[in-house]
Amino acid sequence: MAGSSFLLLSITLTFTILLSQTPPVVSSFVETLNRRSLGLKKEKLSHFRFYWHDILSGHNPTAVRIARAPLNSSATGFGLMYMIDDPLTEGPEMRSKLLGRAQGFYASASQQEVGLLMAMNFAFMEGKYNGSTITILGRNAVLSAVREMPVIGGSGLFRFARGYAQVKTHNFNFTTGDAVVEYNVYVMHY
Ligand SMILES: *[C@@H]1O[C@H](CO)[C@@H](O)[C@H](O)[C@H]1NC(C)=O
Ligand SMILES: *[C@@H]1O[C@H](CO)[C@@H](O)[C@H](O)[C@H]1NC(C)=O
Ligand SMILES: *[C@@H]1O[C@H](CO)[C@@H](O)[C@H](O)[C@H]1NC(C)=O
Repeated sequence: MAGSSFLLLSITLTFTILLSQTPPVVSSFVETLNRRSLGLKKEKLSHFRFYWHDILSGHNPTAVRIARAPLNSSATGFGLMYMIDDPLTEGPEMRSKLLGRAQGFYASASQQEVGLLMAMNFAFMEGKYNGSTITILGRNAVLSAVREMPVIGGSGLFRFARGYAQVKTHNFNFTTGDAVVEYNVYVMHY
């Protein structure tokens, strides 16, 4: 009696092990890749410095207001939103070499101080970076001396990018609202 139930247990166990060892169903849903198969070489750290021109005034503004809170009672401009297509230049002067454009929007997202939510793509045009992009999404407390925003990704030469941008105001015209901001972007990419 004991012998036969042992045999039964052995058979059940063997059967269970066999079942659990059947090869997984082959699926095209996901596969593990060697990064070389995507042409990715060594990951590197690059530092880019350029100037961001936000022009609200004149006939060709690069930043236009697209929304505002119904009641303008907030001293911090809470609820304001601007769409931007801002030139990125090599030097602080607008006439210096154009490297690309910052396209996206910023929105006043803080009720306590002037704090922006920035969401933009840097669309580069210069040299081998032409056509590649870096995406920034972060908080910009514009009255602070140095602000930091995350680089959350990129395309082209910036695939798998991550990093951060440190920015400081170079020039701000209180009459027009026009600003020139220095961007130092530190980015890990391939
Ligand atoms: C909104 O702003 C305008 C111009 O700054 C001002 O004249 C007006 O009184 C403000 N309205 C409210 C509700 O604060
Ligand atoms: C960037 O690429 C576009 C599209 O391929 C091309 O038309 C343009 O001339 C290039 N610009 C530079 C500065 O190389
Ligand atoms: C601000 O812009 C106005 C209008 O373009 C100009 O007259 C003024 O000189 C500028 N102020 C500064 C400090 O650049």
